[in-house]
Formats: sequence, structure tokens, C-alpha cells
Amino acid sequence: MPARTTTPTATAPDSSRVPEEAVTPLIRGVAVLEALTAAGGTMSPSALERATGLARSTVDRIVATLARMEYVRLDGRDAVLTPRVMELGNAYLAALRLPVLLGSRADALADELDESVSLAVADRDGIRFIHQATRRRAMSLSFRIGDLLPAERTAPGPLFATEWTEADWTRWRTRRSRDPQDRTFPAVPPAPATRPDEPNENNENNEDNEGDRDDRGGRGDRGGRGDRDFVHRTERAAADGWSLDDQLIEPGLVAVSAPVRDPRTGRLACVANVVSHTSRHTAADLRDTLLPRLRRAVAVMEEDLRRAPHAEPGPQPAGLATWTSASKQELGREFIESLARGLTVLTAFGEDRAALTLTEVAKATGLARATARRALITYEHLNLVTHNAADRTFSLSPRVLSLGFPPLAGTSLPRLAEPHLRALTDRIQETTCLAARTETGDEIQYTARVTARHVMRVDIRVGTRLPATTDTAVGRVLLANQDHALADEELEEGVRTLAVPLHDRTGHTVAALTTSTHTARRTPQDCLDTLLPALTTTATHIETDLHTASRFTPVPLT
Ligand code: PHB
Repeated sequence: MPARTTTPTATAPDSSRVPEEAVTPLIRGVAVLEALTAAGGTMSPSALERATGLARSTVDRIVATLARMEYVRLDGRDAVLTPRVMELGNAYLAALRLPVLLGSRADALADELDESVSLAVADRDGIRFIHQATRRRAMSLSFRIGDLLPAERTAPGPLFATEWTEADWTRWRTRRSRDPQDRTFPAVPPAPATRPDEPNENNENNEDNEGDRDDRGGRGDRGGRGDRDFVHRTERAAADGWSLDDQLIEPGLVAVSAPVRDPRTGRLACVANVVSHTSRHTAADLRDTLLPRLRRAVAVMEEDLRRAPHAEPGPQPAGLATWTSASKQELGREFIESLARGLTVLTAFGEDRAALTLTEVAKATGLARATARRALITYEHLNLVTHNAADRTFSLSPRVLSLGFPPLAGTSLPRLAEPHLRALTDRIQETTCLAARTETGDEIQYTARVTARHVMRVDIRVGTRLPATTDTAVGRVLLANQDHALADEELEEGVRTLAVPLHDRTGHTVAALTTSTHTARRTPQDCLDTLLPALTTTATHIETDLHTASRFTPVPLT
């Protein structure tokens, strides 16, 4: 059995034939991105070879192309996903609009209940998270945005299954018999090995248990229960309009779900979930005490959808076609232009561009129609795009979130900044740091640091706290909104400090990027002439990553 991290993802195409016009390098590039995602964001070239079955030279060219696109960076030999790759998932989430329209309601419910609340959409026979409002607890419960779970092991699954066609049920049964332990779902622990439809001694749910509805979540029977049980839970979800997960994923984890319907079609838009732990609520408890409040919140969400204004025009897509030609000229054989062009197609979609015709995709990307068409055919084959024959438009599918999103959802500013600090320190040969105000606001905390090789160096460790005053360069940048600050010998004699601000998506200063040098090494003028431009450039790079990463998920500052 191959390692869990190297198995294909669950929504990979069925055995259906690859269309003749599909772009092979694009299929392979997607396989590499999905393997990296399943592995948590970092993989060696040989692990990528094993996971994708591709030749080493192909893996190398794909990684070089993704690196050129800044979707991965090379850390030694390892390929590492960068926050930039989140622009693919962002395109899907923006086009979907549900996170923007309903996210703050989910957050408010989480605050009200002091429990985690999530929103999930159907992804074929799985469910995928599109929003997470999590509580900070010692025992963290939550999945990440983009994580895919097998429908039958969740609370929302039976609600989505009420809309399944015969073909959906067949696909689900095929998957269950091929992968009874859920090895194609890297986000969940494997299910105990039992055959589908095997009667389970411990499972009261194989029988109609009208008298004891507390057990309808299939308690403690983590995926090992017979397939009939899911059919049964689906029938009940259809009748009741809610659904439970009583420790189907993991002992202790319980959830209750209610459907959010699209007011125009009456069909499921998404499912809202309250997630807890048996130490706080049993599943029956969740249903009795929290379900009524969840349903009230869902009614408000549906009203929000009814009243939602038309989508605001989002940022224009970058139109990368000319860029890819230039990269091809520069990198030659190592750059796979058809992969870069194909990935560009996904970024054509967005908030007011949820459904696009082929002509619109070609126009937004600057690609020739034939190129855009072949990319769309490839994506349709990979279940990344759906085609609506009625109005001849294409839309992104939830599976786009499997292209790098989950490992980066929830990344912190210090983690996101670290490779940029390393590059900056390399360039200026000085120690560089990130600092931010603490939650209470009365202190400044150093949150990241990369040291330069000098015998004489400023030794401020990560975690060091200073009073939040404008007595220091960092303090002035964080508190007084200056463009940059240069300070001489304020921390210590002989130390010269330069700091520049980092801004969030709304323009607020959220951190300072700073470097300290010795007065003997650099004059104030030298700091302004050589260090300041380097710091400003790095700040821009960090901000670009921060803005991409924080579009749909909060990025902690510390
Ligand atoms: C979650 O949001 O973490 C969640 C939702 C539904 C489940 C399990 C977990 O059934």
C-alpha cells in the first residue's frame, strides 16, 4: 500500500478516457500540485516522482515551471507551495461568493455558541470546506478551507446526498469498494478496515431505530459501517432537514449540520455545521441545544442570499499570455508553456466572472481561443471545471481548492514572511526581523528573524517584547504610520535600526520589517541608499503574499 500522502486525490477523474484534445502537460502539472497539496505543501523530487508516476525529468520541468509562476519555491531540493498558489482557490471562492456573503454570519454564530462553525459544499461524493470560523482551544478541531472529506463520514454528507442522482450513488459505491479505508482522503484518519455492507455488531444504525434517534450519527463507527447506513442517514436527513456526525471521523469529534438553500433554485447552496467535542457536547446534546440556534442562523443566511446584490467587479485577471512567452524564451526547455498558460485560465474566473464563455476566457487571459479551449477541455476532464451546455459557459468546481489551498489556509504572517526574510538577509548581509504589536496593543513582539553571519550582531530573539512606544524605529513604524524609520543607538550603543511597515489588504499597518546593523558597518546614508530599497522591495513581496493568503482566511500576525 503506498503512503497516504502519495495516493491520488479522491475526485480524480473516473476511468473515463482522456479526451484527445486534452493538454498532457497540464494534466501532469495538476497532478504535481495535487500531490504537493496532499503531502502538506512540501515534497522532494523523488517523492513527487513516486506520487505522480512521472519521470524525474518531467517532474523537474514541471517544478521549474511552477517555480517560475511563483506557485512553488525551491528549498534545497524540495518543492514548497507558496501563498501565491492560493490565487487559484481564491478564484473559485470569489466566483462562488458564498464565503463573502455568509462568512460573517458563520463567524457570528461561532462567537455566539463558542464553538467552531464551518460551511461546506458538495464535491461529487465528498464534501469540501469553503469557510471555517474556529475557536482557539488547546484541542483544535477544525479542518482547513479546501479539505475534502468522504461524504459518509460527515454530518453534511447525508444532506448533500439527498440531491444525488443514481449516477452519483453508483460513483459513491464504486469509490467505497475501491477505497474502503478512505486513503484517497488525506485530510481524514483512515477508516478501520471492514468491508462495505458488512453488518457491524456495534452499529445500531443498520436497523431503523425510530425510538432512539440519538444514534443517527452512527456513533463511533468511523467509516467502517455498512453502506446501507449512509443511505439510511440520507433518508432521515431528507425527512428532518438536519444531520449529525457522531464521531464518524475521529473519537470525540461531533457535528450537527443544516442546509443553506439557494433562494432562486431551492437547491442546496452549502451546508452550515457546528462542530464540537464530546467533552463539551454529546451529539444528542448538539441537536437539542445548538441545532435550533444553527437553524435560526441558517434562516438569516438564506435571507442574505435572497437580498444579495449583484457581484462587484473584481480585480481584472493578469492576462499572463505574453508573460509566458517571455519565460519560454528565457528558460527554454525547462519552462512548459502549455502548463503555465493552462493554469492562467483558472485565474480568469472571479467574483463577477463565475460563468464565462470560451470567448470571455480567451479575452481575459490573452490566450488564443484554441489554447483556452483545450485547457478548458482538460479541466472538464479533471473535474476542475464544469460546462453548462445551455448557455455555453464554464465555471470552476470546488476541486480547484485541491490545487494548493489547504496547506496554506491558516498560515501565519511570520511563516509566510520567513523565505522573504532569508532572501533579504542573503542580499544585504544583515539580520532581518519581523515585529508586530501584541494582541493587547501595549507591547511590540519580535515574530520572525533571520540572522546574518557577523561576529558582532544584534541579538533580538523571536518572542522578545518591548514596550509599544515611539522611542524605537519599529515602534514609530507600528504606531506612528511613517513610511520608514531610521534610528541610531536606541536599543543599544552602536546599533543602527531601519524599519518599514507591512500593510494588510485594507491598508492597515500590521507589522514592521526591520534590520539592525552596527554603526561601524554602515553610515545612516548607506542605510537609506542600500538597505531601504531592499527592505521596501521585500515588504512589497511579503504584502503580495499576505494579501493573497488573507483573501478568504485570516492570517494570524504572530
Ligand atoms: C468541521 O467543520 O470541522 C466539520 C464539519 C462537519 C463534520 C465534521 C467536521 O461532520
